[in-house]
Amino acid sequence: MNTDLAALAKQLVAPGKGILAADESHPTIEKRFQSVGVVSTEQTRRVYRELLCATPGLSEFISGVILFDETVRQKTSAGIPIPEMLAGAGIIPGIKVDRGAKALANFPGEKVTEGLDGLRERFAEYTQFGARFAKWRAVISIGEKTPTDFCIEANAHALARYASLAQEAGLVPIVEPEILMKGRHSIERCFEVTVATFEAVFVALFAHKVRLEEMLLKPSMVIAGQDCPRQSNVRQVAEATLLCLRETVPAAVPGIVFLSGGQSDELATAHLNAMNEINSAPWELSFSFGRALQSPALKAWHGDPSQIAAAQDALLHRARMNNAARRARYSEALERSELYAH
Ligand code: 13P
Repeated sequence: MNTDLAALAKQLVAPGKGILAADESHPTIEKRFQSVGVVSTEQTRRVYRELLCATPGLSEFISGVILFDETVRQKTSAGIPIPEMLAGAGIIPGIKVDRGAKALANFPGEKVTEGLDGLRERFAEYTQFGARFAKWRAVISIGEKTPTDFCIEANAHALARYASLAQEAGLVPIVEPEILMKGRHSIERCFEVTVATFEAVFVALFAHKVRLEEMLLKPSMVIAGQDCPRQSNVRQVAEATLLCLRETVPAAVPGIVFLSGGQSDELATAHLNAMNEINSAPWELSFSFGRALQSPALKAWHGDPSQIAAAQDALLHRARMNNAARRARYSEALERSELYAH
């Protein structure tokens, strides 16, 4: 075992802290910017990501930030490389290394994540830029005849190849199999697909000799499709998600860092809180949210330089709420009182 990597994985899920995912690809950030009327350019992306990373006090609640390839190479307005600024503030810089989910040939409607070619060399470069952990996202969608076993296997294999290369390079891999919320499927169907996916992922991780103590799992929650007429309550989602994880995830994994996947920011926090309340897990239950941490900040900023402090306040508020959820102390009342206090 590499004790440094195991310690780093634990540090990323230190009590009360979670990860900020700010690693949107160009098409994704363009979509997010469009929603608030901002044109996505190298400059606007830099300004926005600098404001997120430079939020005063962020390190109290945020252990690490996942950056995109472009951001890891960018400098702040004061000329400091962004990863260096993060490290200086006590936040661990991470890097998204996959190159996106692409159509899986011969499997209509299914995707496989690309980016393995040349990954060893890219890891060497990212280490030079200061990245200490990495992320690779696999996407599984639920339809009438999907996912196929083949699609799950192909994605599990790629995740395991990535994770072993990350550990070889001295980075903690975040292994992210996301079951999309898009669709009309029930929570029971999501449970079934999630169990099958996580099983395949851990079989592949074992086969590739990935050291479980030195990685984190970034899963989606077990939840009904967004167009399903029957939606579960917070407690039901928390229970189904924990049951699914207990059935499939070895206790040697130090932490689970959930993605938010399009849930509203407050609902994602409520689900995380409920899981920590049930507290029947051998792993730290934490977050690695993108939208659920950033949305209010993005809206507050909307490209206006005079709103940077307001945007940072909005990010800090969500980070604080998720810190409360990690301690099972989140509530509607806390959400409102804290919101008005800032
Ligand atoms: P969301 O929390 O917005 O799903 O983003 C997390 C992420 O990193 C997706 O890959």
